[in-house]
Amino acid sequence: MKRSLSGIQSSGVLHIGNYFGAMKQFVENQNSGKYECFYFVADYHSLTSLPRPDDVRANTYNIILDYLAVGLDPNKSVIYLQSDIPEHAELTWILSCLTPMGLLERSHSYKDKIAKNIYPNAGLFIYPVLMACDILIYDSDVVPVGKDQKQHLEMSRDIAIKFNQQYNTDFFKIPEPLILDDVAVVPGTDGQKMSKSYGNTINMFASNKELKKQIMSIVTDSTPLEEPKNPDNNIFSLYKLFTDIDKQNQLKDKFLAGNFGYGDAKKELLNVILEYFAEAREKRENFAKNKHLVEEILYEGGKKARAIARDKLVKAKEIIGLVGNMYKYYD
Ligand code: ADP
Ligand code: TRP
Repeated sequence: MKRSLSGIQSSGVLHIGNYFGAMKQFVENQNSGKYECFYFVADYHSLTSLPRPDDVRANTYNIILDYLAVGLDPNKSVIYLQSDIPEHAELTWILSCLTPMGLLERSHSYKDKIAKNIYPNAGLFIYPVLMACDILIYDSDVVPVGKDQKQHLEMSRDIAIKFNQQYNTDFFKIPEPLILDDVAVVPGTDGQKMSKSYGNTINMFASNKELKKQIMSIVTDSTPLEEPKNPDNNIFSLYKLFTDIDKQNQLKDKFLAGNFGYGDAKKELLNVILEYFAEAREKRENFAKNKHLVEEILYEGGKKARAIARDKLVKAKEIIGLVGNMYKYYD
């Protein structure tokens, strides 16, 4: 069976861009019966921005609750924390040694950070190598992500090919990105890509009050209430994600008819979002009350993931000529 694997960095609260761009596909792959699924929280990646320990803890736990709330099921998917599998980090050293500096220097996300004068630590620079290891160590076939991760996926493929060429082997499987065109880039409240780092998010599990505030901040033009409005606007782009074609046409007609303000449209958007995530919200609250269960899920997932990662790492070490055999005593 093919393997579907992905992760989300624990650098903040998840938003509907993360959901439609990535998490929804995690759940669909899980439920399709076509894949063996591995989903994790990339907590090591989050350290590149040197977050406060309390934030690391809270964000990590919150993402796991989000995963479980939207339908990831520990009986069907392996759910774990990246930092529970030290083999990812160990393989990162090995693959760093064959990754050209030039490849990493071309990384958009690295260049963006430099352009914003963010202090570039070495972790930020080798971020794509750790991501490649997250994927390659499990022989992943497909990686569901949003479009902004496309270049990282290409780098993972380049790094796998480089290893295979260097050691004349087909040891690492070359992973395929799974990026859905219609949700590749979900726009934020300002019309740019929705991102935790741009302050333009709509967070599906925010309190009603907060969610309302986020939706009311969606940027619109100043067409007066009475006049017809262009349905091709920020509110409609988001409304489309949650509704079928009939509901979309109804909203379009209201915009075109006039006497329908952007504020009215925002209320409709708020209602469909609340309805869409109502069940997930309830599920999330139940998991949040049961920390012990969540810890057990991560423990069991971590054990399964680690057994696979260890086996692959041991074989990688053999290929490159490392002769130690202490791994036999790891348990
Ligand atoms: P952010 O930009 O908010 O920090 P991440 O980089 O942590 O988000 O992304 C986690 C996952 O969600 C990735 O697969 C990413 O491609 C996807 N994603 C993030 N923002 C969007 C968006 N606006 N539209 C579609 N997918 C997105
Ligand atoms: N870079 C991804 C993000 O920003 C997270 C990530 C880390 C990831 N390792 C991965 C995604 C492996 C897919 C596969 O959210």
